[in-house]
Amino acid sequence: MSSPTTRATFDPLEDGFVAWPYDQYRRLRAEDPVHWSELLNAWVITRYDDVNAILRDPTVSVEIDKAEPTPNTRAEIERRNATTEGGRTLVLLDDPDHARLRKLVAKPFRPSEIERLAQLVHDRVDARVEELIARHGRDEVVELDLVAEFLYPLPVEIFCEMLGIPQEDQPIFRVWVNCIARSLDPVMDADERDELVLRIIEMYAFLQDLVDTKRGSGDNDILTALIHAEEDGVALTREELIAQIMTLYVAGHEPTAGLVGNSVVALFRFPEQRALLEADRSMLRPAMTELLRYDGPNQFVRRVALRDMTFETPRGNVTVPAGAVLYLSPASANHDEARWGPTVEEVDFTRDASGHLQFGAGIHACLGLHLARLQAEVMFSAILDRFADIEPAGEPIWSTRMVIRGLQQLPVRARLR
Ligand code: HEM
Repeated sequence: MSSPTTRATFDPLEDGFVAWPYDQYRRLRAEDPVHWSELLNAWVITRYDDVNAILRDPTVSVEIDKAEPTPNTRAEIERRNATTEGGRTLVLLDDPDHARLRKLVAKPFRPSEIERLAQLVHDRVDARVEELIARHGRDEVVELDLVAEFLYPLPVEIFCEMLGIPQEDQPIFRVWVNCIARSLDPVMDADERDELVLRIIEMYAFLQDLVDTKRGSGDNDILTALIHAEEDGVALTREELIAQIMTLYVAGHEPTAGLVGNSVVALFRFPEQRALLEADRSMLRPAMTELLRYDGPNQFVRRVALRDMTFETPRGNVTVPAGAVLYLSPASANHDEARWGPTVEEVDFTRDASGHLQFGAGIHACLGLHLARLQAEVMFSAILDRFADIEPAGEPIWSTRMVIRGLQQLPVRARLR
């Protein structure tokens, strides 16, 4: 394995990384775009063309069992075996298993099905703003944490409602979802890992009971639809179903909340773009697309090389051996000057950002992207419409997660209306 000394290093613990990881990605792209990370025991890939090509490459795998074992992969396999009772999530399976599961899960996420949910999403978002007004006062200038009071609860609430989870059980889902999202990070200590495993087992047990209750219920929600979904006479087993539901929660919640929060910070940074959007709401879709490019939540997706792969880089050819783990960074790819030009670090709602890789690409491309767009657009519009004159009221605090970037706190001042 070629792992020569390099200048640029991938270090998610470096000061300032969580606030703005893009400087480190820029150095990596320039000096060492196919970078061996001792910390991850894996290769970190940061250029647009490489990330895009590998995402679509049928000779890479998402199955960690196909990697040459390292301490990191062993810990992950142990954690998975301790929590999922044999149910496997489609994100971490190759075809043909992946294709079978994806077909069974995909129906409720098609554009036509998602369009039907628009009213539910609007209603939940409006209800949340009304709750805030009841708490803080209408037309008063107030300070609040946008993350805790608005961004974070909403995607879980909406998804619980879509799945038919009783309202009183929703707060614990936020804790569980947080634990699963954290468990995606490759670096953590043993105590934290044990705590996460316990929490994930709790969620699993809750969902087992719920699936059993729903099975004969005739309810009209996504969970009941998934219980009864069949392709060619084959349905999901209970374990498979629960594994997919857990995936949907994490896949759907953290990134959506993260995207809207990151986008608000971006608007504070680029007031002229905010003015453009406020003056012309038909810009909302291209604006969200550009904001996905500029600071979307997904920093890394992981793959396993199944053959030796050679890349031309500024320090010569680098060969990644079969069995190596790759961390591809869509976030870095979306800031690659070679793809986007010299204004890459600026938000520009007139840019055609549709080639961004925030939703991945290839067979694992985001299944929930229509739902993600719907939720993000409704939440973002509500912030523009109902949080009048919104401005920062303190420094944002970023979460320390490496894979899904988002805010822990975003203190803002606004007049709720
Ligand atoms: C802004 C929000 C979102 C972003 C940025 C995002 C991003 C991504 C990315 C990058 C992948 C590919 C992972 C890989 O290649 O390994 C992915 C897959 C996936 N996403 Fe999303 N996602 C978002 C929201 C959602 C929502 C709302 C749902 C559904 C509730 C969802 C469900 C999924 C599922 C099920 C997969 C796995 C697809 C497969 O393996 O075939 N995502 N997402």
